[in-house]
Amino acid sequence: MANSGQELREDAQKAAARFGTPLYMIHLSRLKSDYERFCSAFRAHWKNTEVSYSVKTNYLPAIVHAMHAMGAKIEIVSHMELHLALKTGIPGKDIIFNGPCKMDEALEHAVRNEVAVINADSTDELQRIGLAGKKRGKKVTAGLRIATPETWQKFGVPIQHAAAAIQQAAASPYIDIRGIHAHIGANVNPAIYATVLEKILDLLHALHGQGIALEFIDMGGGYPVPGLGRWGNPFKNLMVSILAVNFQKLKMGKIAKAISRFQNYDAEFKPPPAIETYGEAMGQTLRQKTKEYGLPPPKLILEPGRYVVSGAVSLLTRVLEIKEHEKKWVMVDAGTNLAGSAETQAHHVANVSSESPGTENVILAGPLCHGGDILSNSADIAPVSPGDIILIQDVGAYNISQSRQFITPRAGAVMVRENGEMEEVRRRENFDDVLILDSPFFDKRAGA
Ligand SMILES: Cc1ncc(COP(=O)(O)O)c(C=O)c1O
Repeated sequence: MANSGQELREDAQKAAARFGTPLYMIHLSRLKSDYERFCSAFRAHWKNTEVSYSVKTNYLPAIVHAMHAMGAKIEIVSHMELHLALKTGIPGKDIIFNGPCKMDEALEHAVRNEVAVINADSTDELQRIGLAGKKRGKKVTAGLRIATPETWQKFGVPIQHAAAAIQQAAASPYIDIRGIHAHIGANVNPAIYATVLEKILDLLHALHGQGIALEFIDMGGGYPVPGLGRWGNPFKNLMVSILAVNFQKLKMGKIAKAISRFQNYDAEFKPPPAIETYGEAMGQTLRQKTKEYGLPPPKLILEPGRYVVSGAVSLLTRVLEIKEHEKKWVMVDAGTNLAGSAETQAHHVANVSSESPGTENVILAGPLCHGGDILSNSADIAPVSPGDIILIQDVGAYNISQSRQFITPRAGAVMVRENGEMEEVRRRENFDDVLILDSPFFDKRAGA
């Protein structure tokens, strides 16, 4: 169940009074309801769907732990994330290891911990996965990330070269090649998922004809949420999506692809299509193509990040001072080192210290000494005074994991359990935490 506005306001006041600001506040009930909605949206159309939480989106251990406890697998993209996941208590069998440039040390660490699958980003990496298996005397379960014209180009093997790479891997005594991985990008529209999925099913069909049966298709993340990234005009998006899906159904893939390119980022912040639209587009493609090709139905793996974690986290910040400079500037104690700037994120902001029904339009700016430290250029909030607590909603994705110590230390975090209990899950950084890596310098001086 999502939290009501009133509950959020009360929790924000309580948490700020108890733990101070700036502070991230995570609502477990919202994390659960968004995760469950995501799972149902896909499983309604393709039963054999596995959901793996994308750790890079928010790797607060308390969130990674909660996602796993809800039944999600855990998707990592670096050696540091592998360490974090294992330390959080996630068993290797529930970890999917993705990402570019995995060093041998990371591959060996993953093999030692028997991770569920390592998805290779290149043919070179496939070979090194084989070497890591050989060193351990075992077959490593692997997949191959592919690239198509629709996906980010930095990652994976071009799909036209994938069959040869998979044949080579299938011949290795140390690789058990099981599937294909793709991650298209961020805020992707449903028709593009269908297009890429269709290409992957064509590849599975070709491999099947060569006696290689792959078991899974991992379609990565990228399912949009309001406010994060720029999503286009909803009417235009809807029309484009309907047209593209229908051309796809008529087997006019080229036209569908050309049309779907019109639906992507736009300059405005608008609500994205419902997640159920994505489940339907992928389920329909899977059913249609597996039937047409007589393929054994593959497992569909999804790696949502922003969709499941964005709405569950808010940032609480205190008003430090107010300035009039053409407009009203509300200066708060959280800056763009803790949440995205007004240029990249459309924050939903409220003054939880005021019961006034009226609003004023203000600029919300942080305490950092640089001109771009603006959280909102146009926030309509209840009249503000110094000391008030401002709630910035939907900051769960790519804010905590990308937060940085620029001039000020980073914020702590509190988790609000379903019974309303508040648990501090990360303490606020202090000045000495910031300087801890400089211990060689300080220790030498102290000893001199
Ligand atoms: C491989 C992979 N999977 C999943 C994700 C999560 O993406 P999102 O937060 O857009 O759902 C990412 C993010 O870029 C990614 O690179």
